[in-house]
Amino acid sequence: MYSTLKEVTSRAEELNYTVGAFNAHNLEMLPDMIRAAKEQGSPIIIQTSIDTAKYIGHENFVAVCKSMASKEMVDVVLHLDHARNFDDIKEAIDKGYTSVMFDGSHLPLKENIMKTRAVVEYAHKHGVSVEGELGTIGGTEEGIHVGEDDKVYTDPKNAVEFVKATKVDALAVAIGTNHGQYKSKTNVNLPLLKEINAAVDVPLVIHGGTGVNEHDIPELINNGIRKFNVGTELLVAWTRKAKETFGETKETKSLRHNVIPCNQAVKEIVKHKISIFMNVEDRTLVLK
Ligand code: 13P
Repeated sequence: MYSTLKEVTSRAEELNYTVGAFNAHNLEMLPDMIRAAKEQGSPIIIQTSIDTAKYIGHENFVAVCKSMASKEMVDVVLHLDHARNFDDIKEAIDKGYTSVMFDGSHLPLKENIMKTRAVVEYAHKHGVSVEGELGTIGGTEEGIHVGEDDKVYTDPKNAVEFVKATKVDALAVAIGTNHGQYKSKTNVNLPLLKEINAAVDVPLVIHGGTGVNEHDIPELINNGIRKFNVGTELLVAWTRKAKETFGETKETKSLRHNVIPCNQAVKEIVKHKISIFMNVEDRTLVLK
């Protein structure tokens, strides 16, 4: 089913797993990402940046996600990642995305609350879920860089106020992760995550999933992480494979011979990540 973030994270909360949120960087890789979820008996969150949505066309992402959700019988959420501007959010909602993120993490708390609340009001009227963010995640996202010294961890007291006042459906937490951390691994602050999870009753979200040590994932799940973002790892795998295939190809060879291996590389990563995210023995419960 073409689903909302709230629907898939509620089921994840009941059964204690996390739902993979994978950044689609082009349209080519999208069908195999959804097929990977189908093969693993898992829901999937497909997320796009605003620029990727504009480059492909929001309606085109919506059309593929909707048709594959119905034909493949898999729960697919289409989510707009890191939007800072109401018009971008409104466009995604009006064109059929089922979930959006308003990233007000750079704003003072009161302003973040006020703007997130306005997004929630509009989104909920249209049956769309909203993810908010408190604290700052390191690295570069949408051209904006947050250095180590500028990182602010999520304050659990602020999280209580934020969730209550905004009524967000999910909260992205800053517990040490960084966007685009490919070569090294993050030191996640688990004690802080435990505090936040004890203080608020809302699904929590990890950004910068590429840099998270896989052996930390079960503890993150046990402490309320219900949406787990992975982007860079897919991008790197697709690009590496493309360099290889396009580097060797004859120019007259059908393009699909070069592109299928790239999509396949992404599919393998999505399947692997889901196998860690879905620590549920009976997957048929997930598909209920
Ligand atoms: P990575 O690209 O570091 O995996 O992070 C993805 C993400 O958090 C998107 O918002």
